[in-house]
Amino acid sequence: MSRKPIIVGNWKMNKNNAETKAFFEAVDAAAAGDTATYGIGAPFTDLQTAIANAKNLIVAAENCHFEDAGAFTGEVSVPMLEELGLKYCIIGHSERRQMFGDTNETVNKKAHRLIKAGITPILCIGETEAEFDAGQSEQVIRDELAGSLKDLAPEAVANMVIAYEPIWAIGTGKSASVEIAENCCKTVRDAVRDMFGDEAADKVRIQYGGSVKPNNVVEYMAQPDIDGALIGGASLKADSFIEIIEKTK
Ligand code: G3P
Repeated sequence: MSRKPIIVGNWKMNKNNAETKAFFEAVDAAAAGDTATYGIGAPFTDLQTAIANAKNLIVAAENCHFEDAGAFTGEVSVPMLEELGLKYCIIGHSERRQMFGDTNETVNKKAHRLIKAGITPILCIGETEAEFDAGQSEQVIRDELAGSLKDLAPEAVANMVIAYEPIWAIGTGKSASVEIAENCCKTVRDAVRDMFGDEAADKVRIQYGGSVKPNNVVEYMAQPDIDGALIGGASLKADSFIEIIEKTK
């Protein structure tokens, strides 16, 4: 089964509107073509500017709330994102799970609400360093997937993106070896197969994330169960993101 690769930058809490416009003006043309999907996850305040300047790059939000409206100070709902014409949304990033109280249960509600709106969730999962050292990676991956994907239809899961991001490799410069990344992405696919069947497992696109750079992205992408990358630091500079695009086309 051939899956279209998907490489997405996650800017986290970086860049203002002027910087967003300059980045998209510099990078968007490089993303032209149909061999892979390239995009950027941007802060809420940059989304309109990003969308207005994106012809080829896709734009993702970095989070959403699962309720449509109400007394949820500081939150942004899925209908609000839908109104912007947004097509992708990152959910369950480890920084949100660790610092802002996101759980498998709330991430699952976000996934359901996004899918209902026709927005593709980019679901992040991954183990801590202590869990990795204790040999618990597979169990953590399976538990996070079971909770975050609960009660979704197999066809919905087939169209999602799942990002395996070992927490110990995020922003540390200490990327997972290609072998570890492939094994864990294969575990993700096996778990999806066990829960949702062959079609969902064969279609779902799985990204590796954690210190992906222009000089290691090609090796990751060459692995059979790695269909893309979710990239933090190396997505912030136009030059380095263009290099990543050019190396993976
Ligand atoms: O979501 C992407 C991410 O957390 C990885 O960040 O800076 O290690 O590429 P970085």
